[in-house]
Amino acid sequence: MIKVDLEGCRPFAANMEYQEYVSGAKRALMTLDSGTGAGNDFLGWNELPSETPKELLDACLEVVDSWLEKEIELIVVAGIGGSYLGARAAIEALSHSFSREMNLTASPHVVFAGHTLSEEYMAELMDLVYMKNTAVVVISKSGTTTETAVAFRLLRSHLERQYGPEEAASRIVAITDASRGALKSLADRNGYRTFVIPDNVGGRFSVLTPVGLLPIALAGFDIHAMIDGARQMQRICDVPDETNPAVKYAAMRNLLYNSGKKIEILASFNPKMSFIGEWWKQLFGESEGKEGKGLFPASVTFTTDLHSMGQYIQQGERHLFETFLKVENSRREETIEHDEENSDGLNFLENTNLEHCNDMAQLGTRLAHIDGGVPNITISIDQLDEYNLGQLFYFFEKACGLSAYMLGVNPFDQPGVESYKKNMFALLGKPGYEELAEELRRRIDE
Ligand code: PA5
Repeated sequence: MIKVDLEGCRPFAANMEYQEYVSGAKRALMTLDSGTGAGNDFLGWNELPSETPKELLDACLEVVDSWLEKEIELIVVAGIGGSYLGARAAIEALSHSFSREMNLTASPHVVFAGHTLSEEYMAELMDLVYMKNTAVVVISKSGTTTETAVAFRLLRSHLERQYGPEEAASRIVAITDASRGALKSLADRNGYRTFVIPDNVGGRFSVLTPVGLLPIALAGFDIHAMIDGARQMQRICDVPDETNPAVKYAAMRNLLYNSGKKIEILASFNPKMSFIGEWWKQLFGESEGKEGKGLFPASVTFTTDLHSMGQYIQQGERHLFETFLKVENSRREETIEHDEENSDGLNFLENTNLEHCNDMAQLGTRLAHIDGGVPNITISIDQLDEYNLGQLFYFFEKACGLSAYMLGVNPFDQPGVESYKKNMFALLGKPGYEELAEELRRRIDE
């Protein structure tokens, strides 16, 4: 069960003030659940876990089986932003850190494309694709995102050349809008299997739709358990009081923001969780960063980054707070052994589990940073598995919706993302952007 511990905020936030923010979070919960707030046509994610039909999960597993039958070795998942980060976060968190090197799983190896325009990355990915029995999942809600479309064009051409159009089509799944967009038309024309991203679910809230579920299932993980975890969290996050962890978290992060802490650092203590930080950054950054407002979300992996960012966090500008993402129970055990010579001086740790060392590092860091003026929220989950990740995804989505409403912004739009796209299209010579292209060239030549 997810727990939100606010002890590390006590020195920075008076209880009375916190209670006012809790009232604000409860009001935000009512607004969100009653569908009366800004962006209310994008609330599909709120009820999604309880409304996910078994047939959808079965359909994902059908793709898994059919590609296992074809002995697919490599699955390229093409997508960006909300159409990419959740799947990657889950797959990295759940995979053995060295599964690739050890050739561990019976499942195909999942890699990602369409999240970058780097030529070198794409060329190197194609080197791999040429060597492997490959299938592709292309994910784009709009169906027009440049990064994804460019990668998919390269991948599709290769599959068609390699296997012929019909076999290629059976190795491609498109996840997109039910009826609109270039990807939907392409899929219909070529007979690709498709999954729908519901109209009322925005990209960064879509990890529990086929956008996340299909890649996660293809990587060999249990999507039933993930949805079960999300369902349980959906029930918990509906409760309008402080037992609701989303209310607690949204209340405290808004309090801290209004008291001058403008940066929230999400810190995990396991390198496998660093992409959860990437997913979380998009969720909160794109939902809250607008109208000149919003916490800047940053992420670190401790203890690794204590040796790089630790100095700043301890003693730099005091405009930040930390949210620790703690996993209560390690699923593996490594114990420090006795060494007769003790030349490294570590015998005081003999018979100690490494996770105990990690826990003490967390506790020590938390206390040191609090002493340094950095408030700390700790969010804990029981263990790193599908069930708990389902809980975590839903919890953060709910907390994000509440938090953005408390801030007074629409969590479900992203008007600022368009600016770079317009400039890029103009500079690349896309038809329709001639005037902007001229204006930009004038600016560049000045
Ligand atoms: O959260 C969002 O809406 C964005 O990050 C989108 O997911 C991202 O831009 C990709 O869009 P699309 O799925 O339309 O290709």
